[in-house]
Amino acid sequence: MFSSKRADFGDDFIFGTATASYQIEGGQTDGRGSSIWDTFSATPGNTYNGDTGLIACDHYSRWAEDLDLLSDAGFDAYRFSFSWPRLIPEGTGARNEKGFDFYDRVIDGMLERNIKPYATLYHWDLPSALQDKGGWMNRDIAGWLADYAVEINKRFGDRLAATATINEPWCVAFLSHMLGVHAPGYRDLRAAARASHHVLFAHGTAINALRAEGAKNLGIVLNFEVAQGATGKPEDLAAARLWDGIFNRWYLDGVFKGQYPADVLEKGFGPYMPDGFENDMATVSAPLDWLGVNYYTRGLYAADPSRSVFPIKKVDGPLEKTEMGWEIFPEGLEEILTRIAADYTDIPLAVTENGMAEVEGTDDPRRIAYYDAHLSAVLAAQKRGANVTGYFGWSLLDNFEWAEGYAKRFGLVHVDYDTQKRTPKKSYEAFKMLLTGANQSQVA
Ligand code: FCB
Repeated sequence: MFSSKRADFGDDFIFGTATASYQIEGGQTDGRGSSIWDTFSATPGNTYNGDTGLIACDHYSRWAEDLDLLSDAGFDAYRFSFSWPRLIPEGTGARNEKGFDFYDRVIDGMLERNIKPYATLYHWDLPSALQDKGGWMNRDIAGWLADYAVEINKRFGDRLAATATINEPWCVAFLSHMLGVHAPGYRDLRAAARASHHVLFAHGTAINALRAEGAKNLGIVLNFEVAQGATGKPEDLAAARLWDGIFNRWYLDGVFKGQYPADVLEKGFGPYMPDGFENDMATVSAPLDWLGVNYYTRGLYAADPSRSVFPIKKVDGPLEKTEMGWEIFPEGLEEILTRIAADYTDIPLAVTENGMAEVEGTDDPRRIAYYDAHLSAVLAAQKRGANVTGYFGWSLLDNFEWAEGYAKRFGLVHVDYDTQKRTPKKSYEAFKMLLTGANQSQVA
């Protein structure tokens, strides 16, 4: 099944899977407030087939069965996210106790099964009431996020193995405010520049607030793409370098060096940044205990002088692609992990997402090969000195893949959305074999 052995990764290495609240929970009852993904997905034209997260995988009711799937395969940890509008329906102020009770059940359910809870505070389901006030474009979001983080820590902190503030700030800021692909669907340079700063300022503000409460093992989850030139021409190599700045260095330089890359400011964001953002950079770079690394693919870039800002374009690549159309490039995971370790930080790194969308079915040899190659890339990065301490496959279940709706299936476990029946795929069995040495699932 997989060519690597569990022992190759080291004694304390953590294997898990990842999910996100809006993508699996459904359960828009019991006092849960509205989120930007509810209205964005309900707006015609924004998601494939008009799909929404109204029901999703009904994890709100079926969480125990889903945790059984994790423990049956021998996973050590589960990376999940809290739904902000389920806990604090208006984003600030009154709490929804039924929401707190739900996460009590899920977290205690993990601990009963000997699964370490890896929590993400924000995986994109912003309360609509905060969007009404400007959402990530409003600097006040730093305080809103910090207050929410403290509420979570007070109730659950002693039971969490690790906490990440934000999932994929590039998606929160650039994909959602510049490219308009994700909620709230803005396509505006000023909105994107502000969100790009506020998302990291809010992260650092929340980290400082959590530290003041005594919270432990705090981090952030960044996503990375290896950017390469479409050709070896200097202008295309420069285009790739600029995309590396937009996607990777903005977040790495901000979080670990307390500064934003000059090329990204100069080629686009500079005139639109919030006044005095430089004074926030000590907060942006608040010390962390661990870093989550999400990695899926590489991208090829070429110069596009017809654009007045960020004068580059993405070019289709020649490698084998997943159902998302993303090139399969496992070397990129080794490259990213070793680069972070060499150039940025020696705190522990965990691969917090990695996986592929495949056509529907439970026999998924390409997914097994994808995971196998990327697990080997983790081992190669470890040999080159990267302190990689964990690996989480995306995802436990087929789920609501944002703008792609239910059409794109990333799960180790198949979900029949008509019946909500879960069926482990062959890739699930491959992880089970790696983790327990057994290859037959007891979960039907
Ligand atoms: C990441 C997201 C995750 C999932 C995967 C495929 O960008 O964090 O929610 O959609 O991509």
